[in-house]
Amino acid sequence: MTNIAIGVIGAGLIGRKHLAKIAEHPDFDLAGIADVNAEQVAAQNPAARVFADYRAMLDETRPDAVIIASPNQLHAENGIECARRGIHILIEKPVTDTLASANALISAVKAAGIQSLVGHHRRHHRQVATLRSLLNERQIGDLVGVSAIWAVYKPDPYFKVAPWRTQAGGGPVLINLIHEIDFLRFSVGEIATVGAVVSNRQRGFAVEDTAGVLIEFENGAIGTFFASDSAVSPWTTEQGVGESPEFPFSGESSYRFMGSRGALEFPNLVQWAQAGDAPSWNEPIQARRIHAPTLDPYVAQLDHFRDLILGKAASLQPVEDGARTLIATLAVAEAAATGQRIDLRERCATLLPPQPERKAS
Ligand SMILES: NC(=O)c1ccc[n+]([C@@H]2O[C@H](COP(=O)([O-])OP(=O)(O)OC[C@H]3O[C@@H](n4cnc5c(N)ncnc54)[C@H](O)[C@@H]3O)[C@@H](O)[C@H]2O)c1
Repeated sequence: MTNIAIGVIGAGLIGRKHLAKIAEHPDFDLAGIADVNAEQVAAQNPAARVFADYRAMLDETRPDAVIIASPNQLHAENGIECARRGIHILIEKPVTDTLASANALISAVKAAGIQSLVGHHRRHHRQVATLRSLLNERQIGDLVGVSAIWAVYKPDPYFKVAPWRTQAGGGPVLINLIHEIDFLRFSVGEIATVGAVVSNRQRGFAVEDTAGVLIEFENGAIGTFFASDSAVSPWTTEQGVGESPEFPFSGESSYRFMGSRGALEFPNLVQWAQAGDAPSWNEPIQARRIHAPTLDPYVAQLDHFRDLILGKAASLQPVEDGARTLIATLAVAEAAATGQRIDLRERCATLLPPQPERKAS
């Protein structure tokens, strides 16, 4: 097999991480990097061809595939330009910044017949695949509900270096909870309605620092989510899985899935069950730990992207699926602003093409 020539648009925080993973990957060759800070990026990547204009990078290096790691507002435009040139895309989350631009991107991707993968990297963890199998096999019976937390304290410089993070859209709902919502859609199923309350009491910024979310899934399960970037805790997926060195490992579970026959903690995959056929609160309950190996989800994501490009796999998350996660996340913000419970079903049905059947792994 000849290596896949890959370009990267946007060499910021996450773009640099992708570049490091590409450099170590045996099946990809870096074709070029596009970043408006071309001089600085060229100094950091002396062996790479660096362009200030991403269209020039696409036309002059003619990559087979591109990772789009630019600011959210550019995702749709970048993706459409790649699609027009027949270039496969791995597009960072959120897939785009609005539903209208998501639909424009979906149309362009479909018209061009390119492969697309949204960068919700959590989907690639082995713990996630194991959880999905356990839920699909009804190991805890009928899923009744899920209770989850994502709570950490973001340090002051995080806001000082990027003041947009103190304004609408820069808070934990659109930056962090979007990954959790995507994970819930992937593990439990589609979301029917959301309600939410948010607060800015801790930091006093225009944007929320804390949120409480009520989720109703299409399969009838109910979920509650507490999210905050102003509370110290060991309960985030990042800390629980230990997926990157910036977020030190806590080994704690932040999700509890509860079913008619037992319960599961995630990401530790501790399964709680009672002996016998008749569950009862009077019976003792016991735990067993299920093992799933830890891997680097960004490398696993690249492996999957390679398999899509080679026609060996179907995308774990095409752009239309990323748009469903965007719809649900925007609905959380809207529910909090309006005090209304938001029904997602009509929005998903009217705004997006039908979802192809997805087989759980
Ligand atoms: N999957 C994840 O875990 C994860 C983590 C962080 C960020 N993200 C997503 O990745 C994207 C980038 O986030 P970030 O934190 O790396 O931001 P960033 O600001 O650190 O990086 C963005 C880069 O894009 C460059 N850029 C801006 N305009 C450009 C243009 N017109 N053409 C080419 N380059 C341009 C900037 O110079 C900068 O280097 C966002 O969509 C974000 O939501 C995903």
